[in-house]
Amino acid sequence: MENFDKQLHWENIYKSKQLTEVSWYQPIPHTSLNLIKDCMLPFTAKVIDIGGGDSFLADYLLELGYQDITVLDISETAIERAKKRLGDNAAKVKWIVSDITAFKPTEKYDCWHDRAAFHFLTNENEIGNYLQCVQHAINTDGILIIGCFSENGPRKCSGITIQQYSETSLSACFAPSFEKIDCFTIDHKTPFDTLQNFIFGRFRKK
Ligand SMILES: C[S@@+](CC[C@H](N)C(=O)[O-])C[C@H]1O[C@@H](n2cnc3c(N)ncnc32)[C@H](O)[C@@H]1O
Repeated sequence: MENFDKQLHWENIYKSKQLTEVSWYQPIPHTSLNLIKDCMLPFTAKVIDIGGGDSFLADYLLELGYQDITVLDISETAIERAKKRLGDNAAKVKWIVSDITAFKPTEKYDCWHDRAAFHFLTNENEIGNYLQCVQHAINTDGILIIGCFSENGPRKCSGITIQQYSETSLSACFAPSFEKIDCFTIDHKTPFDTLQNFIFGRFRKK
């Protein structure tokens, strides 16, 4: 996978597949929304969705009243699709096209959400860059929500081998800068009626 062009891979996915043709599609991101709502953050909180693609999380957060939402993704096509869907509301969201491992945040976030992007990082350098980034980019007492495939989940996503996590390994990644709030597994039903076991961890920045 040394010469693997991540950006091209994701551009091809979003250029060739419709919204409901990808395994991660969910019409309402219930788990993520519940985890964010439960944190009782003010609506002015800075929320970023890492690898947000064209998911509906930003749409629902806007609807709930959140005013400072950023979506980051490596695929420009995914971002353009999300913007198009949101229409005039797209202007209320900040959009960043970047590989998360090269992201140099210019602001600090109160809530960092990542569903199924972190698990694509499989080498030490990339994981190290991500961890450094969250450590620097999340405010003290800020919330980190990470959803990945669990050890009972798939080994691949969109054809790429991913890193599976357990409660122990996920928590270990973010210690010592974050304390665990909760961690649980949950099945995601794909549009193809298969189940993918996810693990979600919610952490607070110390
Ligand atoms: C499995 S999809 C999940 C999309 C969305 N989070 C959801 O839950 O519907 C993974 C997303 O992460 C993005 N992605 C993968 N690797 C990335 C990276 N290194 N940096 C930024 N985004 C990345 C992909 O373009 C894709 O949109």
